[in-house]
Amino acid sequence: RAREIAARLGYRVFAAGGVVRDILLKAGNLDIDLVVEGDGIALAEALAGAYGAQVRAHHKFGTAEVLFPDGFKVDVATARVEFYEYPAALPRVESSCVRHDLYRRDFTINAMAVDLNGEHFGDLIDFFGGRQDLQQGLIRVLYNLSFIEDPIRLLRAVRFEQRYGFKIEPQTLKLAQEAVRREVLARVSPERLWEELKHILMEEKAGRMLERLHQLGMWPFAFPGVTYWEVQPVLHDLGESMQLLEEWGFPPGNEPWLCYFIAALHWTDPETVRSLCERYHLNKRQTGKVLATLANWRLVLSRLCLRDGARTSELVRTLLLLPPEAHPLILTLMDEEWLKERFRQLLVLLRESKPTVDGTYIKSLGYRPGPIFRRALDAVWQARLDGLVKNSDEEKAFVQE
Ligand code: CTP
Repeated sequence: RAREIAARLGYRVFAAGGVVRDILLKAGNLDIDLVVEGDGIALAEALAGAYGAQVRAHHKFGTAEVLFPDGFKVDVATARVEFYEYPAALPRVESSCVRHDLYRRDFTINAMAVDLNGEHFGDLIDFFGGRQDLQQGLIRVLYNLSFIEDPIRLLRAVRFEQRYGFKIEPQTLKLAQEAVRREVLARVSPERLWEELKHILMEEKAGRMLERLHQLGMWPFAFPGVTYWEVQPVLHDLGESMQLLEEWGFPPGNEPWLCYFIAALHWTDPETVRSLCERYHLNKRQTGKVLATLANWRLVLSRLCLRDGARTSELVRTLLLLPPEAHPLILTLMDEEWLKERFRQLLVLLRESKPTVDGTYIKSLGYRPGPIFRRALDAVWQARLDGLVKNSDEEKAFVQE
């Protein structure tokens, strides 16, 4: 449809960037980037009009997002040349054609386009050998100053390299090392750095990516004050623990990056951790989760390790000292099978042992709502966890007592 609309408006339109890479790799990608030789915002608006979608336009950049009612998103850009006013600044935009648009991109594998116009529909546009690099598994910049102009690409190089099991091509690696040595990352705003870091922490192979950041000397820019080798073994195995938890029916929640963030910081002093949370604008709730883990993981682990004498209700309550995002960390730190199995059982209990009696029942006994409700419900819950009451009738009798 974009093609018809573009033709009507007299524009040429291309699909570009990650979507082309992922089509060639036969990998899934739900993001579509269109590049328009013409007015990208006008095309976005016409496209949105045809589908009842919303447009978020950025006039300064000549770009727009088309947000479809079903959650699908298309990014539209006006083919352009970008000038960086000074290294590490956001780009300034001027109008031009698709070749220039592709040339300003990070790596050859991300700098291909598919022609969507008339008889050329479906043609691959590959000025820089992206397809060959894709076949050979190479991450290659398009020009020598790429990392200096946009230092975030240093992190992106690592992300794509590890995600696809590729290699950073030797000359590109030299340029990257030189850029790191010149400390270009120190000039990037924490906001931009965090945006990319968060992407990394959400990747399946985040552990390997963090290791590579360390190898290439980028770790101190991402996690200043945090000693990598202290958390290296945990980060290495965290993905496996997250997978195991998922198999047990405990997926990482809707902020999976927090699991890695917590694991990366669990060995660091609270002051440094607090300032990192501030630097990356974590909100109060997220910061609270990180700090709660810091304060409690040793205690939780040592209590869970107690072989005898621990009441189930006490163990479950201990678990409540940690946010769910710290569970992968705890599981990674457990080295014995029986412990892992105990942990699994406790998680199941935590989720499934909710008493059937509630405040309404206590009210029906003639009590007025107050702190006694919480105490009574807590006591039933504990009794249930310890196997002292087994069903709803027993719970009611217990409350009455
Ligand atoms: N891009 C770039 N330099 C950056 C960020 C992005 O050149 N610092 C270009 C790349 O061509 C990239 C495209 O913009 O393909 C879209 O960027 P983005 O959506 O961040 O990445 P994707 O390539 O789509 O990768 P992902 O699968 O992680 O979304």
